[in-house]
Order: sequence, then structure tokens, then C-alpha cells
Amino acid sequence: MPAAGQRTTLQEYVARDKGQNQGLEAVIMAIAEGARRIQQQVQQAALTDTLGVTGEVNVQGEIVQRLDTASSDTFVETLSQSGQVAAIGCEEIEDPVIVEGEVANGYIVLMDPLDGSSNIDVAVSIGSIFGIWIRRPGEIVNDDSLLRPGNEQVAAAYVVYGSSTVLVLATANNVCGFTLDTESGTFAVTHPNIKIPADCPYYSTNEGNNKVLDEPTQRAIGMLRDKYSQRYVGSLVADFHRNLLKGGIFAYPADTNRKDGRLRLMYEANPLGYVAEQAGGAASTGYARILDIIPKELHQRTPLILGNKDVVEATVSVISGG
Ligand code: AHG
Ligand code: MN
Ligand code: MN
Repeated sequence: MPAAGQRTTLQEYVARDKGQNQGLEAVIMAIAEGARRIQQQVQQAALTDTLGVTGEVNVQGEIVQRLDTASSDTFVETLSQSGQVAAIGCEEIEDPVIVEGEVANGYIVLMDPLDGSSNIDVAVSIGSIFGIWIRRPGEIVNDDSLLRPGNEQVAAAYVVYGSSTVLVLATANNVCGFTLDTESGTFAVTHPNIKIPADCPYYSTNEGNNKVLDEPTQRAIGMLRDKYSQRYVGSLVADFHRNLLKGGIFAYPADTNRKDGRLRLMYEANPLGYVAEQAGGAASTGYARILDIIPKELHQRTPLILGNKDVVEATVSVISGG
């Protein structure tokens, strides 16, 4: 393994790996710069009185944490300044952010700026999630420009702010992890060529919801419970990152309280579904492939079964009775 000084940096990697996606490196470096700033904010939040809630409720009907807003503002700033982002959709902002001025190629970025908000105040791993689409050629960007199916993504990325800060970037058939060197403020390759392991040791689901699942879904979750060890952080990105590296399945199915599921299609399920598929895994609603869903609205929710392809398929066949 190369010594720290010789590792490939994120900037070098993306410049080499971007393929036809001209300008993608500016988008990824904007995400990296935002993550660098947020990692510092998260580490210091208790000391700078930025934990806790703002007192507002977002479009999801959820109480907004101060760091939700801070993270949203940070990434909107770095992405808007990249010169390559035409529009941004964000969990914390009701309407799309259309970036002013003529943006040459123009990427569309959908993001969950801070995932796992219930864990912010208790020092448990949280994250940020990004789906990246190319603007349709010649398109005048408007709100509908953001409603793109997940199968049209050209890249996706997430960041885990945990015992270390790891940025995982997926492009076509290529998933790579980078770790933040907090001294230099740069990300370097630490997890090249990520593929989900064939073995599946873990299942991640909120067992407290079991009583509100329909019978086939209860049976599917029971099969996971009988076969695998339970690991559930309550931050989707942290649960997914562990399952991506070690093998595992994450399940937040539809239930009688949440017929459309709890997680959001455009900036949680689509990006992580893209990462999973490029790493040899799968992402389903329990009835259909996540990336094939034609979105109807920016903040729509979806059930999510995500991880090892064979285990996702077995779970889906019980849920859907297929
Ligand atoms: P967010 O903080 O962006 O709203 O996301 C929280 C999500 C996801 O991170 C996690 O898997 C899920 O909420 C946990 O939901 P429950 O608390 O219902 O288990
Ligand atoms: Mn989230
Ligand atoms: Mn969030």
C-alpha cells in the first residue's frame, strides 16, 4: 500500500476517471470542499453551540437541525461556485435551486446534505449523499429538469463523517473510496475498486416497525433475522457504507403508516442505488428497481431494499410474492 504522501488524490483520480463527463471533477471537488468544511463543523458543533434544532420544520415535515441547514448552505455555496452545476435539488430546500448565469455543460445535483440527523447530537456517524445527472443538451433548466430517473445518473457520491471521513464516488462500473487527511484537507484513495463482497453477514432495518409491516414483508424481514446479524445505526449512509464494504442488506420497506416508504427517492435511494449497482449490488422498492422509477416530484419517498444483489432479490421475491 503506498505511503500517505504517495496516495492518489481525489482530484488526480477524477481527472483521470471522468471519461466523457467533462467538468465532473469541478463538481466532485465542490462536494469534497463542502465535506471538508462540514467535517470541521460536526467535530466542533457542541463547542460552538451548533447542535440542536432550528425550531423550523422542513418540507418533509421534519424538525430541522442546525447542522442540516449549515450543511445545505455549505454545499449550495460550493456547488454553485463550481461553474459546472446548473441546478441543485436539496432535501432541506422546498424548490430547486437554479444556478444563475450560463453554465457551460451543466450538471444537475440532487443532495441530502446531512443524513442521519437524529444522530447529530449523540456523536454517531452521519453523512451526505449526492446524485449527479448531466443536463439534457441545450435544455433551459427548470424545476422539471431535476425529475430524472436514477438510471440516467452519470455519477453518485456520499460522505460518511465517522471515526474517519470517507468520500465514496461511483461512476460507471467503478466505485472508489477516499479518506480525508484532516491535516492537508485533501482526500486520498484508500478503498480502490469497491465491490460488495459475495458474503452477506448483516441486515439493517428498524425492527420497531415490524408490527406495521404487511404479512409478506414481515415474512421477508423474518428470513433476514433468522440468517444474518442485525446492525442498524439509524443513519442510512453509515449503514449502507458498512454493508458496501462488508456485505449486507438495508431494508426500509413500505408499511401501513408509510405506504410510500420513509426514505427519499431523488437524493437517498437513487444515489445509493447507483453506488450499489456499480459495486455489483442491487436496489429495489420491494416491487421494482429503484433506478427505473420515473420521478413525479422532488421530495417523493420510496421504500428501499439495498445491498447484496442475491439477498435483495430473495427479499423482494417474498415481499412482492414474485
Ligand atoms: P435524514 O436525517 O436525512 O432525514 O435521514 C434519516 C433517515 C436515514 O438516514 C435513516 O436510515 C432513517 O432516517 C432512520 O429512520 P428511523 O429513525 O425511522 O429508523
Ligand atoms: Mn437522509
Ligand atoms: Mn438529511
